[in-house]
Amino acid sequence: MPDVFVDVGMSLDGFIAGRNRSPQNPMGGVAPSIHEWMIKVHAWRDRQSLEGGDRNQDNEIASETFERAGAYIMGRRMFDEGALAWPDPPPFQKPVFVLTNHPREPWERQGGTTFYFVTDGIERALKRAQEAAGARDVHISGGGHTIQQFLNAGLVDEVQIHLAPVLLGDGLRLLEKLDGMPSHWSTDRVIPSDDVTHLRYRLA
Ligand SMILES: NC(=O)c1ccc[n+]([C@@H]2O[C@H](COP(=O)([O-])OP(=O)(O)OC[C@H]3O[C@@H](n4cnc5c(N)ncnc54)[C@H](OP(=O)(O)O)[C@@H]3O)[C@@H](O)[C@H]2O)c1
Repeated sequence: MPDVFVDVGMSLDGFIAGRNRSPQNPMGGVAPSIHEWMIKVHAWRDRQSLEGGDRNQDNEIASETFERAGAYIMGRRMFDEGALAWPDPPPFQKPVFVLTNHPREPWERQGGTTFYFVTDGIERALKRAQEAAGARDVHISGGGHTIQQFLNAGLVDEVQIHLAPVLLGDGLRLLEKLDGMPSHWSTDRVIPSDDVTHLRYRLA
């Protein structure tokens, strides 16, 4: 049975984005801090149409994460930031289901990425993503509001956190407002490097 997994970069003090977030200021300007490890590796750079990149263990994890995903789900605020920042072709190369309360026609881009706008809730978005993903996993990409809903609804099998050794002091927290889920998570994998610690948890 394919998994539903969350994959997110986080600061040591628990933030996945800074303050004053907007499409003109994606992630509140903290992407270079939280995603420093990712920006360096070949698998991520290749998906951004950038040359070069390290081919180390961090790269293997980035590559594994791209390869296992057959479809993506994200919130409209994450989409709005990415729509300005992602290249064409965008990095997903798979269908992306965007949660929103505002209906919109699908947006097809190059390289296999089509954004579908889902206005009838997280369970419907997940069903559509699972149908699109087939034997592959569904990647819940963010942001915080979106991931929290999936966690609280018990729809997530696995959470992967790339913990960056940086203190942000303020911003958007992921691990709060989680009243609907077990308080104890099962540690599945811990892989450290100089730039990041990759944490993977299985949820019951
Ligand atoms: N560190 C990381 O790895 C990482 C990963 C992903 C994102 N981020 C950051 O996270 C931030 C965005 O997170 P966020 O919590 O502010 O917002 P978000 O989860 O990206 O988007 C929230 C929006 O999604 C729509 N939505 C969510 N659930 C819905 C539902 N059940 N039904 C209908 N619409 C729904 C609503 O859009 P409408 O207003 O259109 O109705 C809502 O305003 C960004 O700064 C992004 O860069 C960080």
